[in-house]
Amino acid sequence: MRNLIIYTHFNNESFTKAVVTKMEQELLNAKQEVEVVDLYKDKFNPVLDLQDFNYSFNGGDIPKDVKAYQETISKADNLIFVFPLWWWQMPAILKGFFDKVFTQGFAFEYTSEGPKGLLKEKKIDIVINTGSNEAHLFGSKSAESLEHYFNSGLLGYCQLSADIHFFTDVLHGTHEVRQSYLDRIPEILKIENND
Ligand SMILES: Cc1cc2nc3c(=O)[nH]c(=O)nc-3n(C[C@H](O)[C@H](O)[C@H](O)COP(=O)(O)O)c2cc1C
Repeated sequence: MRNLIIYTHFNNESFTKAVVTKMEQELLNAKQEVEVVDLYKDKFNPVLDLQDFNYSFNGGDIPKDVKAYQETISKADNLIFVFPLWWWQMPAILKGFFDKVFTQGFAFEYTSEGPKGLLKEKKIDIVINTGSNEAHLFGSKSAESLEHYFNSGLLGYCQLSADIHFFTDVLHGTHEVRQSYLDRIPEILKIENND
């Protein structure tokens, strides 16, 4: 299995980074391949501009960094997005990654029957770390809106679907709560325990 983790956080002391580190360890222990894209480390420019629109829709040249990300995604069986929730959404740098990398001709194409997904074989997991506790995240419909956004909107448009996992109360919850999330990672990634 080839796993690609797309990690979004500016702080390597964050819980988001702890999740990514644990995922890497578990996947490597299970003898699976794992690669991490670190958008902040890459200093990825998320702003979609006219030339970006042109390469997606008018046949312009795809920039080297975007091409490299697309090749990395193409090689992966599993895509795993890990990020904190900011204003009920993914961080802007990750939104820009989708804007620029999930282009027409790569993630989808138009057909007479509507958009057709081109990455359909991928398994996708999304782990979202939230400051809100579970009662607030689900009671406010923030979780529901994110599921709808990803699975009916962004990924749904590309005929993809993700398992979305919420790690709630990350800011104010106890160390034990955060540890329990890390302990769930093998189950989330469907890694067999051979101990
Ligand atoms: C700009 C910003 C916006 C945020 N918006 C939300 C939000 O809408 N809902 C929420 O539950 N937490 C929100 N938070 C809290 C983060 O989700 C929380 O800090 C994060 O999950 C903690 O994990 P970390 O250690 O990986 O940063 C926000 C934090 C920041 C910095």
